[in-house]
Parts: sequence; C-alpha cells; structure tokens
Amino acid sequence: MTPTADRVLIFDTTLRDGEQAPGCSMTQPEKLRVARALAELDVDIIEAGFPAASRGDWEAVNAVAREVSGPVICGLARCSREDIELAARALTDAPRHRLHVFLATSAIHRQHKLHMAQEEILRLAVEGVSIAREYCDDVEFSPEDASRTELDFLAQVVEAVVAAGATTINIPDTVGYTVPDEFGELFRYLRQHVRGIDKVTLSVHCHDDLGMAVANSLTAVVAGVRQIECTINGIGERAGNCSLEEVVMALATRAAFFNLKTNVNTSRLYPTSRLVSSITGMPIPRNKAVIGENAFAHEAGIHQHGMLQHRSTYEIMRPEDVGLPRSNLVLGKHSGRHAFRERVKELGFELDDLELNRVFEEFKALADRKKELFDGDIEAIVLRAGSAAHGPWNLEHLDVEAHSGAGAKATVRLKHTDGRVIERQAAGDGPVDAAYKAIVLATGVAVTVRKFEVHAVTIGEDAQGEAILYVDNNGRSYRGSSVSTNIIEAAGRALLEVINRIELSQKSVRQGAGQREKTTPLAHNVI
Ligand code: KIV
Ligand code: ZN
Repeated sequence: MTPTADRVLIFDTTLRDGEQAPGCSMTQPEKLRVARALAELDVDIIEAGFPAASRGDWEAVNAVAREVSGPVICGLARCSREDIELAARALTDAPRHRLHVFLATSAIHRQHKLHMAQEEILRLAVEGVSIAREYCDDVEFSPEDASRTELDFLAQVVEAVVAAGATTINIPDTVGYTVPDEFGELFRYLRQHVRGIDKVTLSVHCHDDLGMAVANSLTAVVAGVRQIECTINGIGERAGNCSLEEVVMALATRAAFFNLKTNVNTSRLYPTSRLVSSITGMPIPRNKAVIGENAFAHEAGIHQHGMLQHRSTYEIMRPEDVGLPRSNLVLGKHSGRHAFRERVKELGFELDDLELNRVFEEFKALADRKKELFDGDIEAIVLRAGSAAHGPWNLEHLDVEAHSGAGAKATVRLKHTDGRVIERQAAGDGPVDAAYKAIVLATGVAVTVRKFEVHAVTIGEDAQGEAILYVDNNGRSYRGSSVSTNIIEAAGRALLEVINRIELSQKSVRQGAGQREKTTPLAHNVI
C-alpha cells in the first residue's frame, strides 16, 4: 500500500501493541468487535496480533483476516521462518494483508537481550524480510529500539532490508525516549543516507513514556513519514502508544499547517474509543484530549460567555467532528422503541433488529428502576449486551444479606453453558466479599484481587454503578467490569466476567498445547 504525497496512512495496533498493556487482553469475539469498529473508522491497516505468541493469538488474527473487510490486515512476526510462516498462514484469507517483521537493533538490546553482534543482526533482518517476501508482497520491517540505535548502523540495517524487499520501514521509539527535534533529525538522516529509501513508505511507532508519543509522531510526519502507528485511547505497553484520536485530530484540525490528510472517518472516533475502553476496562481520563468527558465542556463563566457569542472563541474542534453526541437527551420509561433506536444510532452504535430488541428489553427493565436514563446508561447497556453473551458462566441469581458490624451472607446460583447449575453460599466481611466467596466456591476458580473500583456511570442518586475488577491468576492479569443500579450485583458480574476470561484463555492454552510443541512459544507481553 503506497500513500500519496499528501496522505498519511493510519496503522492501528490496538489489537497487538494495545492488547499487550497489562489487563488489556481481549477475547476473540472482543477482538472481532474492535476490528469491525476499526474498519468502520476507516483506518488503513489493522495490526490484528502476533500469531506466534499463542494459539489464541493465531486464531484471533485468522478470524480478523477472514471476517473483517476494508483495511489491510497485518500480523507481527520475529525474524524467524516459523514465526513468519505462522503469521502468513493466519493472514491468507484477508484479501489484502501485510507481514510485519521486527528485530531489535540498539546496542542495549544487542548486548543484553539478543547477545548478538551487529553482523548477525544485519544477516537476520535481511533473512527475515526475504522469507516474508516469499509469502507476501507487502512487508514491513521494524528495527526495534531504533531511536536508541547508532545512526550509522540503523541506516545500514534499513538499507539492507529495503534491498531485500521491505516495502514499509517503521521506526519505533520503543521505550518512549526520544524528543521531537532529535526524532525529526533521525528521519532526515535516514532519508539522506539510505539508498532506496524513497521507494518505500516510511512509518513511525512511538511509545508515550515521557508523554511525547503524539508530538514525536507529528514531527516524524513533518520530516517525511507517511504512516503513523497508533492505538485507540493510546493504550499499549507501559504508558501506552501514540493515541490515534489525538494524532488524527491534530492532522485534521491543523490541516493548514501539516497540509496532509488521513482517510479516517473522524465521526467514528468517540464510539470506537468508548468501545475499546469498555472492552479493555481501561477508563478514559475525563481531561483526555479529543475524547475525554471534559474535552468539550466549558465551566468558567467567561468561557461560557465567549462560547455563546461564537463557538470558535474556545473550541478548536466541534464535538460532532469526533462523533460526540450533541445532546444528553434524557430518556425514561415512557420512551418508545423509535426514540431509543434513534438515540442508540446517535451514540454511534449500529444494531440489527435482534440486538436492538434485546437491548430495548434491558432499557425498559432499567427504566423501571431508574427515573431518567442518560447517554452513559444507554452506552453501558449496549456495550454490555455485546460482551455479556459469551459465558461460559452466567449469573442466574444473587442474594445478599448484610448487617452493619455483623458481616454478610451471600447465595449465588450460576449456570454454565455445559448445562451445570450450581448454587453455593458463603459468609464474608461485607456483601461484596461474601458474594465473591460464593462465586469462587461455585466455579472453583480462585483469583487474587489486585484492584476493585466502583464509580457512577451517570449522575443522580439512582445512577448505575460500574464495578471494575483487576485480578491475577497463574501469573496473568485479567479484568472484568459490569454495570447495574445494584453495585453488589455489578461487582458479582464483574468477577464472573473475569472467571469467564480465565476459563476461555485456559481452554485456548489447552487447545494450543500441540501447536506450541512445534514452535518456540512467546509468553504474553514479551516484546
Ligand atoms: O515498540 C516497538 O518497538 C514495537 C515493534 C514491534 C514495532 O512494538
Ligand atoms: Zn510498540
């Protein structure tokens, strides 16, 4: 895929680098939902995962390749034939696909991680790209930790992989170390010193350790880069990656400065951001640029006065440009299906009739318990409906008795998709503790709770509470969340979501055991 001179390609890596963030792992149906949302957002390339990492990753990449049309679907691989073959097989069903091979080049990584000399890195990089070209015409190469690599060696590696057939050269600031001026210089150096560089697409991949991922990516674009790698909400390893919504809106809002376009449908930014936040459980800070709750709120009287005279006094983008719902119209129990359908659409969700019926029933049930329903309530119902159906455990009944100073007792009845119905009772310090103990007894899955949060989804004393739970199980982090007007029930459902994720990932590990014997496995979060 070649960008035109005035077009920047958007390469989304939410499903690969974003998913590597602790607690952000997604199930296959969740990855498919995100990939479909990315296709609707019109990103150019979706990096769907790292097929050699596990059987589950391979299957998710394969499912995205089979089922999501529009963008080029990409898979990551180390410079080894096994990795590349696995990635190529996972991607074959995508009409347009890309192999992304990487190898670290910096002295720190060469000495302490790879234990390899420069010559060996050079040889392996060329070999990796040549193997990838046997399977695919669209091959991207990333010299990992490029921003801390000696410039002359970096130029040597890039020149060699371009000669070997790489069509995109991606320069990662893997540890978020560089600063804009220095990074711009790096690209100017490569453009001056690498033979053949004008025949490939130059790409940038920035991490946000010092809060400069977006600034560094934009500087790279000014220095001639025409592909930006980024993630929704900036999720990713450690402090995250370059945030897609910020970099895209910077290019759009300051079009007169950059003179460049992207193909992104910006009105899908807000719903896509909410979807990723709800699936990963990674909350969006209120003051987050572009899609945070406060991004378009004006509190100070002088600002409100200015806004009333003319929006441009204090607003550089319009909320509707990023798909933020214009009104916070309140619906209630007398609102009909039509008004509800319209609101769901305005919030950016496309539901078929069956889904709409299911969600409308939930809306009615909630409207019986709650006077007014805000956008946050409707989003919560729609997002939960998309993720709740996967089981295997479902909550049939939860009854909790609690007395101040005397602890609590909980009875829980769960139904498993294999037909088992299990009822258990437990006592605990408080209602959540008792409910958790009863659920653990019923499912037989023990977890270590790392963090438990509850916050109101909307305003008012009858607001729904969202419970978010972070746990560890067998060295892996999991996250679950749920929303209800009853926060004990929300907490119980959040734990059940975690237990469902654990069961599903254990199943995928068991299924993958055969395959892993044949390949060199990668633990999750290894890059
Ligand atoms: O940060 C990084 O270096 C990466 C590469 C694999 C592109 O994610
Ligand atoms: Zn990265």
